[in-house]
Amino acid sequence: MKEHVIVNEVGLRDGLQNQPRPVPTEKKLVLAEALLNAGVCHLEATSFVSPRAVPQLADAAELFGALPNRPGLNYTALVPNERGYERAVAAGARSVAVVVAATETLNAKNINMSLEQATATCESVLKRAKGDGIVTRAYIAAACACPFEGVTPSAAVLSLTERMLKADAGEIAIADTIGAGHPRQVADLFKSVVAVVEPSRVAAHFHDTRGMGVALAWVALEAGIRKFDSSIGGLGGCPFAPGATGNLATEDLVFLLMESGFETGIDLEKLVAAVGVAENVTGQALGGKIIPWWKGRGGDGAKGKTSLRAAS
Ligand code: COA
Ligand code: ZN
Repeated sequence: MKEHVIVNEVGLRDGLQNQPRPVPTEKKLVLAEALLNAGVCHLEATSFVSPRAVPQLADAAELFGALPNRPGLNYTALVPNERGYERAVAAGARSVAVVVAATETLNAKNINMSLEQATATCESVLKRAKGDGIVTRAYIAAACACPFEGVTPSAAVLSLTERMLKADAGEIAIADTIGAGHPRQVADLFKSVVAVVEPSRVAAHFHDTRGMGVALAWVALEAGIRKFDSSIGGLGGCPFAPGATGNLATEDLVFLLMESGFETGIDLEKLVAAVGVAENVTGQALGGKIIPWWKGRGGDGAKGKTSLRAAS
């Protein structure tokens, strides 16, 4: 039996937060439906942040309340502080992600907190969530490099990981926020992370700024990671981290996994259709590295198959 890997679609949050103009809620819902139709069942749907800081996600509560409610779907909301946590829970979120960056400057620019304030805020939200029976993830952002401070020492990531675990974070998401990591660095980092937390509780979040996304995902897979964030069409970036472009594209990640013999529950053909929906919704040309090849094959992948591997 093929090993399962969880693909967590973050385009609606990480992707849409960076649009030049906010995407209307109904269009976000159309994109969500296209993703669900492709078999995506883990989505980071939005963040409950200040609407002044991120006007693109000012509709967080409205969107969250309108997402299709079917069994087996897992929606997460990013929350930067207690206020965000309360808003998310009031909107019906049962899974939240807190965020701390590994450097002082990025915490200041992103959430207007010192590293220690951000860490303490995460700890406090995680404790509340545990009491409320809410599923949690803790992002360690800028885990490879910070746009302001340069290469991040892995010791900083490990010490935050340990603090988040002590605060009962359900999952640790190691995030290369600006896509600055390289395979050797990421291999060493994940090796150190899985020495302190079992790989089933770790997720990998890569951006494809320098075209390393697929290589980094492979390295993390080899370290035992089985949960990955990605965004449809490679949508995204962070308005507070200069130089960050979109996440690793979901279609590139799913193709990597399929071709390598993993199972994701996602239909690649329908996923490519969702790239078209994301383009319509954003008015932007999108698409991961597999798209030109896919289109060159008449739009049906390997003659109706979604893989070039022998049937298996
Ligand atoms: N949701 C909505 N509004 C919020 C909020 C939240 N989670 N947290 C604070 N606010 C509001 C306050 O009510 C206040 O509103 P007012 O000016 O109308 O009175 C205003 O925001 C400022 O509050 P304050 O606590 O002083 O926050 P701040 O100005 O220090 O900003 C954050 C802190 C975290 C709210 C803000 O930096 C933010 O939302 N950052 C998000 C960054 C982001 O999304 N990054 C990408 C993902 S990691
Ligand atoms: Zn990101």
